[in-house]
Amino acid sequence: MKIIQVKDQVAGGQEGFEIFKAGLASGAQVFGLATGSSPIKFYEALVASDLDFTDATSVNLDEYVGLSADDEQSYHYFMKQHLFDKKPFAKSFLPNGLASDIQAELKRYDQVIAEHPVDIQILGIGQNGHIGFNEPGAAFDSNTQEVQLTESTIKANARFFENEADVPTKAISMGIGSILKAKKIVLFAYGESKAQAIKATIEGPQTTDVPASALQLHDDVTIIVDAAAASQL
Ligand code: GLP
Repeated sequence: MKIIQVKDQVAGGQEGFEIFKAGLASGAQVFGLATGSSPIKFYEALVASDLDFTDATSVNLDEYVGLSADDEQSYHYFMKQHLFDKKPFAKSFLPNGLASDIQAELKRYDQVIAEHPVDIQILGIGQNGHIGFNEPGAAFDSNTQEVQLTESTIKANARFFENEADVPTKAISMGIGSILKAKKIVLFAYGESKAQAIKATIEGPQTTDVPASALQLHDDVTIIVDAAAASQL
């Protein structure tokens, strides 16, 4: 794993931007995208740039079950707000949080990933080491799944909702196995609250207790951290 320590999120976003730009220049066409606060500065750098990805495709990691694309708390809305409305891709895929047949939706999304193999996957990380919404215990070879969010994830994500009770308890997430199929992976982590998860991801044993430790199995992972997230390394 390559670790890049940056002074702040703006510098981290710029590092991610350079990787994205180099990828585009060398023919990358499919970008796996993530939500959460960690990639926001990266998206801002994309939006501010003159890069053209109108021929490219994006495939997002996850979506809450029960939220529509127009719901301000949905990941689809987040992506529109931070990126797609400002700089659209040719095609953008996200799991459908309102699918009436969840099993069929999981299959559809696996098909999307199979037809659009990800060249560069962007990730954040949960305080408990989750990637996408793959919570501790998720198998390293998992495909798209419906997941039950843990109490700690619900609490951590409650900051985006009016009340903790409004946070959905389930999500659809690309599996760890699918994430590992990306050619290149870039993970952003900032702040003290991520320090333990970052240590376990990089230095800990490969264990399903820390989903991000699966990244040790991949040969092209870049982890962009600030000093606080790197403080336990
Ligand atoms: C959510 C998302 C993850 C994200 C994590 C961390 O749980 N499903 O993809 O990495 O939050 O978010 P943040 O970057 O806001 O700390």
